[in-house]
Parts: sequence; C-alpha cells; structure tokens
Amino acid sequence: MKHPNHPAREHSSYLINGTLENWSGSTAAVYSPILSADEKEAKPIYLGSTPDMTSEYAMEALNAAQKAYDHGRGEWPTASAHERIAAMEKFIALMLPKRDEVIELLMWEICKKRSDAEKEFDRTVTYLEETIAEYKNLHREGSHITSVNGTLAQIRRGPIGVVLCLGPFNYPLNETFCVLLPALLMGNTCVFKPAKYGVLLITPLLEAFAESFPPGVVNVIFGRGRTLASPIMQSGKVDVLALIGNSKSSNALISQHPKPNRVRQVLGLEAKNPAVVFSDADIDVAVKECVKGAWSFNGQRCTALKVIYVQKEVRSKFLAAFAKATDELSWGSPFEDKDITPLPEVGKVGYMEEYVKEACEKGAEVINARGGQVEGNLFFPAILFPTSRETGLFREEQFGPVCPVLEFEDFEEVLTDIAESDYGQQVSVFTRNPETAGMCIDHLVNQVCRVNINASCQRGPDALPFTGRKDSAVSTLSVKAALRSFSIRTLVACSEDQKDLVEEVIAGGHSEFSSMNYLL
Ligand code: G3H
Repeated sequence: MKHPNHPAREHSSYLINGTLENWSGSTAAVYSPILSADEKEAKPIYLGSTPDMTSEYAMEALNAAQKAYDHGRGEWPTASAHERIAAMEKFIALMLPKRDEVIELLMWEICKKRSDAEKEFDRTVTYLEETIAEYKNLHREGSHITSVNGTLAQIRRGPIGVVLCLGPFNYPLNETFCVLLPALLMGNTCVFKPAKYGVLLITPLLEAFAESFPPGVVNVIFGRGRTLASPIMQSGKVDVLALIGNSKSSNALISQHPKPNRVRQVLGLEAKNPAVVFSDADIDVAVKECVKGAWSFNGQRCTALKVIYVQKEVRSKFLAAFAKATDELSWGSPFEDKDITPLPEVGKVGYMEEYVKEACEKGAEVINARGGQVEGNLFFPAILFPTSRETGLFREEQFGPVCPVLEFEDFEEVLTDIAESDYGQQVSVFTRNPETAGMCIDHLVNQVCRVNINASCQRGPDALPFTGRKDSAVSTLSVKAALRSFSIRTLVACSEDQKDLVEEVIAGGHSEFSSMNYLL
C-alpha cells in the first residue's frame, strides 16, 4: 500500500490551566491501521505516542476548569461577547496553518481517505465561523427587553458550567470541535479528552487552545477513558457531558455522577439508519445513494445506512446493481484517496467476519463477488441477503463495511422493525411516487428525526438540526442548536414600575448582561 514516510511523533505535552506541561510519565503508543510492507510479517506502522495520564491529572484538569468557571463568576463565563468571539477567532486563525498536518494525521491514524480528511478539516473551520455568526444573532436576540403582562424581562442564554467533552474516532476533529467550541463560546469551561483513535491529530492544535483561551477554560488531557473520565464524573463537578459515541459509555458515565439529574447530556450516539427501496424507485439513484450511504468511510459513520429493505418486485434488480457498484469501489491507501481503507479499531476485521459468518449460518449469502475479502486491516464491503432478523448484524450497529439486506412485500413489516428498533436517527426512502413518499413521511417522522427522500442519510448541511430518538441522541446539534444545547435561558425580570432603575442600569453600562450593545 502506497504511503509517505512518517517520522514518529512523540507527543509529550498536555494542557491544564493554560499551561502546556511536559509529561514524563508512561505513554501510549499510537499505531496506524496501515501495515508496513517492508517486513516479512506485516505490522502496524508506529506513529508515535501520547501521554497515558493518571486520574490525578484528570482531577487537576477538572479543578482548573472548575476554578475558571468559578460558579459562573470566573473571567470567562462573565466575559463580554466581544471577548469570547475574539478568542474563538484567534483559535480559528491559529488552527488554519495546521491544516496539512491534521489532514496527514487523519489519514495515518484513522485512514480517512484524503478527500474526506480535507473535507473534515474545512467543514470544521466553516462550522466554527458560522457558529460565531450565529452567536452574534443569539446575542442580538438577548439584547432587548420584552413586556409581558406588566413584567419587563430580558432573556439571554447563559453558560451551564463545566463540560466534559469526549469525541469519537470517526470524526475526531469535526464532531469533537462541533461540540467543544460552541460550549466554550457560550461561556462554559471544558475538560477535553481526545478519542481512542485519532488522538495525535489533536496535538498540533494544543498551542492554539493555550494561546486563544484564558487559563483553565479549556484543558486537554490524554489517556484512557476509564482512568480519566470516570473519576471526573464521580467527583460530581461536571455540569454537561458532551459525548459522541455510544449509549453504553454515556450511561456508564452518567450513572457515576452522584447527582445525574444535574448533568445536561449532549450526546450523539449509535444508529441503525434504514434505507427503504420501493418497487417504484429509480434504481440507479437508490444504488448510487446506498453505495455512498453504506460504504463512505467504510460504513464508520453514525449516519451510515446500516440496513437496507427492498421491495420484492425490484429486489433482484436492485441487488445486482448494488453488488456491481459496490464491487467497483477501490480499496487501498487513504493517501491515494481509495474508497475503502484499513479499519482503525483493533480486531474490527474479525468482528466484521463474525457478522458475516453468523448471517450466513442463518440463511444469508454474500451477494457481491468481492464482499468480505480481507487484506491486512482492509475489509471489502459485504452485502448480505437475505438477512435473518435473528442476527447480530440485523440488531446491532455494525459500524463497518457489512450491510444486511431484507426483502419486504408490505411496508408495515418495515415499520414494525423501525418502531421496535432501539435507534431513531434517520431513514432514507427511495420512491418516485408522491403518494408513497407522502405516506412514508407521515409514518416515519415520529420514528426518526430526519426522513431523506431519494438520498442517503447524512448530518449535513450543518445548519440543519442533527439529532435522534431513543438510543441515538440526546439534545440537538447544528450551528444554531449547539449554542442552545450548551446554554440555559436566564432572565432578568421586574415589574414596569422599575423601568427607571432598569434604564439607569442600561444607560450607565452597569451590567454586561443587561447591556444593549448590539454585536454587528
Ligand atoms: O458519525 C456521524 C457523523 O455525524 C456523520 O456525519 O453524515 O456528515 O458523515 P456525516
């Protein structure tokens, strides 16, 4: 597999209380899912190491965040909107020159193909810029006084407190920063631990964090989730858990907090988005979208299509075309922008093989010729049909390049599955018939949070709300919604006879909250 040389990056700093400290304790080795070709026995390429920090340091980071928040009286939660925007703008400016470095590491660490890695970086920068614009809107909205039944009120959104931010390996930059930075902009303080994979790529940005935000506002620690996140939650000092991952981890963490009711949860979790291909669908469109939906980044997206239902009349036509289009995908190095790239999670190829094996034992066949081929950490996408409902592949989020297909005659069968599923993020419906489309919309909008018509499931455009029902999410994310998810409405109210006092507070510039200065 072709790839450039990689000088090992022994990263030894962490950020606590505004200072980049040097770590001299034990470290965790970072390997690429790409195997070296030059040795007899193929081995994962060594990329470097990061600090394997202890719980003591987790508590130090937490205390720094708590001190910076200071019960909402710290420098950051009370800073003016101008000051927070300036910090965020500085961060973006310092992030931009790191583009190439981060993209290289996205390819090395998680094997995101070049074009997708570039998209992840650029999309993140755009998201942050749009977040600033939306923050200004929010600030403007809060800069006026309403009168309700004789009560004057000024309503703004204020910070919540200390945020523990844990990101995912599949979008280690984008999904993490799309919660972390809005949380900071709203005046919260954070402890951030990068994901298990995709950790070195955060390191070029540590200085940007240190230089842009006041001490303690953002603290970045490295190590194992269990060692670092558990004691942080047990301390009871976390006000918001921002986690993109799965419900098992979020439930385990929330249950460790002595007062779980106090923790606001901003969670992007697992999903099992179905595609439903009706007999009147444009098969070319359905195939193109299912290939994109099921196999982009090897199916390692929460929004990936993870089960496909196809109506009996078009089942063989669809499957033949879907198998052909899938087999035309290229596999190999992310540096060469191949469609299918090595899987970063240790043991993942084996898990994919297990899914295929069980589905085949229960009556399915791999219907594409290249399906299930393995080379090192590469696993060629496998389409399984007919998949039994009694398989792990049908029930679980496979988060990889294996896709179960089921045939249906009556849409009611599909609806029953969707209603009984633990997940409720999105669905894709393929039909050319307006009546079918309309019927699907009405049946599905209360099951999932986005019904895609003749298109695969996806999060973007980022201005749209991204959320899910059941085990798929808590809270809503989007450029607008993230700012709301990380804040709480707070108001100042008085009866109209206090008008003169309020006017003096405003005119004298005696309160930042009650300032009427509009941000342009
Ligand atoms: O892994 C879940 C991501 O939020 C999906 O985003 O649909 O843009 O790939 P995407």
